[in-house]
Amino acid sequence: MGAVEIKPGIFWVGAVDWAVRDFHGYITPHGTSYNNYLILDKHVTLVDTVKHDFQEYTIDNIKGIVDPAKIENVVINHIENDHMTSIDRIMELAPQATIYISDRGKKGLDRFYDTSTWNIKIVKTGQTLNTGSKTITFLETPMLHWPDSMMSYVQEDKLLMSQDAFGQHLASSARFDDEFCDQYSVTALEHAVRDYYANILMPFGTLVKNKIAEIKKLGLQIDMIAPDHGVIWRRDPGKILQMYLDMANDKADLRVVIVYDTMWHSTEHMTIPIMEGVKAAGVDVDVIKLRSTPMSVAIKRVWESRAMLVGTPTLNNIMFPSVAEFLTHLRGLRPKNRLAAAFGSYGWGGGAVKEAYEAFKKIGLEVVEPGIEVLYRPSADDDKKCFEFGKQFAARTIEFHAKFNGDLPRKC
Ligand code: FEO
Repeated sequence: MGAVEIKPGIFWVGAVDWAVRDFHGYITPHGTSYNNYLILDKHVTLVDTVKHDFQEYTIDNIKGIVDPAKIENVVINHIENDHMTSIDRIMELAPQATIYISDRGKKGLDRFYDTSTWNIKIVKTGQTLNTGSKTITFLETPMLHWPDSMMSYVQEDKLLMSQDAFGQHLASSARFDDEFCDQYSVTALEHAVRDYYANILMPFGTLVKNKIAEIKKLGLQIDMIAPDHGVIWRRDPGKILQMYLDMANDKADLRVVIVYDTMWHSTEHMTIPIMEGVKAAGVDVDVIKLRSTPMSVAIKRVWESRAMLVGTPTLNNIMFPSVAEFLTHLRGLRPKNRLAAAFGSYGWGGGAVKEAYEAFKKIGLEVVEPGIEVLYRPSADDDKKCFEFGKQFAARTIEFHAKFNGDLPRKC
């Protein structure tokens, strides 16, 4: 795709990755884009680069506007590989350019490249770069997404270049939110935002809230938000800010998601009466079999739901491996204000349900104890117990949900 002017003199010069389906373990069924931006001004400035494999795409896009040798400034908002691994190629083409980067970014950059011959200026929040007719103000955003991260705000255009924050993993010919919604739907965009937040930014909700508050306190007027992935928010950037605030405030749907795996279908069988019990109590319910579902899909569904029931058979006295993997993954993402309980079948000693509760407590989930276990194969009596278990868990979910801030937003 060629360059696209997003504001007078500011161009998207990135690349669309239509084919990527595994983004460091995160399933990306809709691909992604690596967005970077060129400011054509007295002092030509490039904000971010792209993933190494796509470096010639961005260079071609730049060449369509200006000779890359004329780039005087390169801003590196984030050093993760998908945004920074073309920097060596850019510096070959524009060796005189000065790199603007955070202190932690510089430390990371030095681990990837020999930077001894590069001009590098470390910047902090509030420092500015004048490109001629435009002023870029830097805003450090550590842990959104990495310790080095920062954003760049162009005052004259009220444009926030936000790197990972407010992004989505979407490959499309649309560069803007309104174009995407016209081609596909608001719902598709909303789900891409949630998917990205759940799998990437879930652990950093408090930081998200604080950073949005800081942006408001600084009095930054925002007319457009240009992230490093997916579409640019121009129709109503306030909406994506509000979506992020809602997600960071631990809103969730009043819903129970049953996440399970099974050896010989006994634990799987238990999901049916449990699901019926949840539904009978008036709570929506989903069922996810882990071996049939990509991890990032399960994570998103769990994060969207106020409560989770985990089903695991006992294998060699411990949890089934796919369930253990799922709970380990969830522990890293640190979901807050979610309710959990466990169930499963066993053959002789049991142990998986107990271990699931230990994992819940390490994650920081609220738990409903005890769980329910079935020997070998659920009987008709066990089915009744499972139904009651689901019904009572749903009742606790309704009470628990009432303590928080309601449902997730439905519109982007
Ligand atoms: Fe898109 Fe944290 O990289």
